[in-house]
Amino acid sequence: MKIIGTGSALPRKVVTNEDLTRFLDTSDEWIASRTGIRSRRVITDERLEDLATEAAEKALAEAGIAAADLDYILCSNIANYYVTPGLSCVVAGRIGAACPAVDINCACPGFLYAMDIAEAFFKTGRVRNVLIICAEEATRMLDWTDRSTCILFGDGAGAAVFAPGDNIKGVRMDCQPDVNTLYECRKLNHTPFLTKEEKDVPLQMNGREVFKFAVSTAVRDIESLLAEAGLTTDDIQYFMIHQANLRIIEAIRKRLGAPEEKFPSHVADHGNASSASCAILLDECNRKGLFKRGDKLIFSAFGAGLLSGAILMEW
Ligand code: COA
Repeated sequence: MKIIGTGSALPRKVVTNEDLTRFLDTSDEWIASRTGIRSRRVITDERLEDLATEAAEKALAEAGIAAADLDYILCSNIANYYVTPGLSCVVAGRIGAACPAVDINCACPGFLYAMDIAEAFFKTGRVRNVLIICAEEATRMLDWTDRSTCILFGDGAGAAVFAPGDNIKGVRMDCQPDVNTLYECRKLNHTPFLTKEEKDVPLQMNGREVFKFAVSTAVRDIESLLAEAGLTTDDIQYFMIHQANLRIIEAIRKRLGAPEEKFPSHVADHGNASSASCAILLDECNRKGLFKRGDKLIFSAFGAGLLSGAILMEW
């Protein structure tokens, strides 16, 4: 498959580090030096499906196809207002599509997992146009009194339309099962029969463990894709790394020995928008005209699961 259109949408509200100091024992200096984040976009009165719909419509407009031409919609989302139906169905209705629509919950590497699934659909020959949407309201999953997690995240949506092509040159997906390092739990409705205790648990994270996992798996995944394709970092024009933390991106870059200009980043302005991060970054780079036909891009992402993935793609 190949990408024929991209789009993204962000909430209006910008929350700076300084804004956080009004209710948290933290500082712009601490957050910026540990994460590279200066501000993030946060959902206020928007609904996540509004952002997802806007991103999808922009991607369809660039692709030059109508929603009715879509054969499949894949939506990467951890949580939104609807428990059911899936966000993919909600957005399908909003954009006027009438094709199969399915949600996947793969946390931060969700865009890469969705691409891997879409590529498999293309290989069966059953689809001609696939829309992937990544939409996340990560700020709704947090304990806003926990300064070690709530400073990291932002909200947003990114989308891309795919058509038949031979542009995916390598895929590596992994799961290293470990629930305790990064998770959130939601209490479901009570029943007259329930005998177990349950509670809502906002996002819990062992930051240091996640940091180590992110750097080591991203380097391993990228190096294995390069080796498989017989390429070196010099052959890659851009490394599209999940925008979790600038220090993570920098550590990956240094271990790969590649120059800074090959690592586009928006984490300073957006924070970590989970699976939407890579999709939004893709759209921003595309709209800036960064990519030339034939450029080789490597996407790499990691997160709860613990899941990781990397994809080598030709533009
Ligand atoms: N402001 C000020 N101080 C803070 C703080 C904040 N927002 N958050 C934590 N601290 C404090 C801690 O309480 C601790 O204080 P103590 O030494 O008195 O106990 C101190 O800073 C150091 O905490 P530590 O957790 O060791 O910091 P760190 O250097 O590991 O940085 C993270 C913390 C979360 C920034 C870092 O571990 C990280 O980025 N991890 C990856 C997280 C991530 O990207 N998750 C999503 C992946 S998809």
